[in-house]
Amino acid sequence: MRAPTTRIPAVPGRPLVGSLVELARRPHSFLLSLPRYGDVVAVRLGPKRVYFVNHSDLVHDLLVTQADRFVRGRIFEKMKPVLGYGLVVSEGAAHRRQRLMVRPAFRRGRLVAYADTIQRIAEQRIASWTPGRPVDLVHELETLGFEVSYHLLFSTHIDPHLMATIQRSFPTLLAGVVRHTLAPTDLLERLPIRANRDFARAAREVHTAIDTVIARYRTRTVSGDDLFSALLAARDETTGEPMTEQQLHDEVLTLLGAGGETTATTLMWSAYFASHHKSVQERLQAEADTVLHGRRADFAQVSHLAYTRRVVTEALRLYPPAWLLTRQAAEGARLGDYEIPADGTVFYSAYAIQRDPRCFQDPDRFDPDRWLPANTTPAQRRAFLPFGRGIHGCVGEPVGWLETVITLSTIARLWTLRPAPGHPVTPMFRTNLVPRRLLVIPEPRTRATAE
Ligand code: HEM
Repeated sequence: MRAPTTRIPAVPGRPLVGSLVELARRPHSFLLSLPRYGDVVAVRLGPKRVYFVNHSDLVHDLLVTQADRFVRGRIFEKMKPVLGYGLVVSEGAAHRRQRLMVRPAFRRGRLVAYADTIQRIAEQRIASWTPGRPVDLVHELETLGFEVSYHLLFSTHIDPHLMATIQRSFPTLLAGVVRHTLAPTDLLERLPIRANRDFARAAREVHTAIDTVIARYRTRTVSGDDLFSALLAARDETTGEPMTEQQLHDEVLTLLGAGGETTATTLMWSAYFASHHKSVQERLQAEADTVLHGRRADFAQVSHLAYTRRVVTEALRLYPPAWLLTRQAAEGARLGDYEIPADGTVFYSAYAIQRDPRCFQDPDRFDPDRWLPANTTPAQRRAFLPFGRGIHGCVGEPVGWLETVITLSTIARLWTLRPAPGHPVTPMFRTNLVPRRLLVIPEPRTRATAE
């Protein structure tokens, strides 16, 4: 017998718009206010009634135990013109099959070569900063994130022109996906307006550039050390078939889109905490000196950069790039005692869950040492969701860690970052949760330059 359901409490909203304005203008206070009403609450966003899940156990149900009752929802539908049927967009059996083919690209054995690529590209850019001249780390790390993603995919086949075309098109595509998701009707996508023409042009340019890169890659010796070579080598478990050209194309775009900005954003917040907390920066530098002895980090050293990893973990807790994600009930589904109706849209916010005082002591405080093994509680681990969880959890997570830890330790090895006076740092809740601007002044470290 099924347990009785609990009525889902409704969050009071304004006439017509409901809570749309609060979510758009004051996401921090709006999201953190929701648990007050219940663990699952109904929120009106304009004409639409949606559900927010506010408890980490119920988010676990949504993503893991009840995952087969939910699909990804409208925003992923709208990504299809860009990402085709790549991992981020596909569902059900097709997704499972494709995920099994992509996963080997992130196996431990391959990470040694990836670490090398990350270190090389990160150091080139970070070492080029001018002592005393302010650097905007938002722009700098965004560019670095994209460069690293591209080199990880095509380590030996770098065409700066094609790379620039793809990088330039991404913001237009992302803005289009968000616009199409929020539009009250699909008709707006078809109007002959400038925004739609720009979206169509950016999509065309990106698809052509990816096809060209892949075609060129095939004409040369495959390096074996990059992500694309792993995709080429992947075989379907049942049929033994490789990926089709279309699948390869879609997965390349997916990995570029999903990996670059999330990792860059994590690095921005990690560097923000380092540059604004003297003691944090000093501990990062001391660890880089002890573990790296003034040299480049390799894969084996990454596991010894334990404090650096705790700083990244705490930055991911307070500022998870994917701050708000959705699912849609394919059929009636149950989360704890709450019944979600068929087609109901469900939101969960890693940002809010990771600041829940029921799981984290003094949740707004930046404290990397809460992640020391002796201090970490099971509730804390369960509520840590920056990579999602379950069948759609981040397949690139091992690379995400590798890239952030190596890059942050490279910065700590070479520079001391000082916040530029008069430039407060504020978060922007866009597709990802990014700092508006992060202006720092780099000063060379004497130890690093002496060696
Ligand atoms: C710190 C860095 C990263 C963060 C915070 C992050 C976050 C996430 C999150 C939250 C999801 C789940 C989305 C959902 O459930 O709807 C996800 C999925 C995914 N991520 Fe990441 N990610 C990171 C790095 C990367 C990297 C480096 C790659 C690839 C090179 C990557 C590729 C993917 C892919 C392909 C998926 C879709 C998986 C699936 O649906 O099967 N991510 N990521």
